[in-house]
Amino acid sequence: MKPKVLLTHPLLKEAMEFLAGQVNLELATEEPFLPKAELISKLKDKDGLLCFLSDQIDKEVISQAPNLKIIANCAVGVNNIDINYARSRGILVTNTPDVLTGATAELTLALILATARQIAAADRFCRQGKFKGWQIDLFLGPELSGKTLGIIGFGRIGQAVAKRAQAFNLKIIYYDLNPLSSEKEKELGVEFRPLDLLLPEADIVSIHASLTPESYHLIDREKLGLLKPNAILINVARGPIVDEKALAAALKKRKILAAGLDVYENEPEIEPELLSLENVILLPHIGSATFETRKKMCFLSIQNLLAGLRGEKPPNLVERN
Ligand code: GLV
Repeated sequence: MKPKVLLTHPLLKEAMEFLAGQVNLELATEEPFLPKAELISKLKDKDGLLCFLSDQIDKEVISQAPNLKIIANCAVGVNNIDINYARSRGILVTNTPDVLTGATAELTLALILATARQIAAADRFCRQGKFKGWQIDLFLGPELSGKTLGIIGFGRIGQAVAKRAQAFNLKIIYYDLNPLSSEKEKELGVEFRPLDLLLPEADIVSIHASLTPESYHLIDREKLGLLKPNAILINVARGPIVDEKALAAALKKRKILAAGLDVYENEPEIEPELLSLENVILLPHIGSATFETRKKMCFLSIQNLLAGLRGEKPPNLVERN
């Protein structure tokens, strides 16, 4: 008999068709939000779960799924899953690393360029019929060349951002709980800084850390106060790493120049103050959204799921948050 699998939301069509041929598949909803009570009731008799970062797979959910063997997250971040509890129940948890590194780094560069040069505001300006002719001071912004990019969280994605940013002649400094060896730093052309030194030195700060109890509100009002008045803050990692209300206040009072956000504290809600500001670019969590990457994420999460259901070690087992 085929194992029973709950898929919380649709995958890309070809991946979903493939999965439907391998398992006894139930799609929970076509909507981007799945109410918890529905998730719990649909998961009750399932052997496997394929879910997304928008699904909260906590103790309450896991404890009511007695047959569950594997939770395959179609995302690299796993802050939406209570991994310790899953492990205590012998349930495997997997993610989709590597395949989204390049796409997320590319979106980071897009946000850096777009915030520096006010691309979204300039586009709105044209659409509103405000472009009356070339002007010497229209939409000025900082040039990247020669500036310093401070990267917080220097794992796969942080390093991929550094590599691409060097092509724009940006100097790279980074902060990470586990600094690299000095040989590796030399090889990559980067320098470590403690967080309190990185923030006042960087012209652009880009966040690529994972969300853990330690990184929650890592960038709060006090840390925002350390940034240069012309600083740009980019967050494509997880919203709760930044105190969103404090960021909105800093942007409103022009204590920093601009921000580019792809993630929010309470997704899909966005702090209302941010919506009214011109000096922030807001994206709907699309860091990994390239044709190529999303396809790879779908098939990698399926590969993990099927391996776990067969009782094998999945390629991307996650042991802790
Ligand atoms: C995206 O945010 C992911 O974790 O894959």
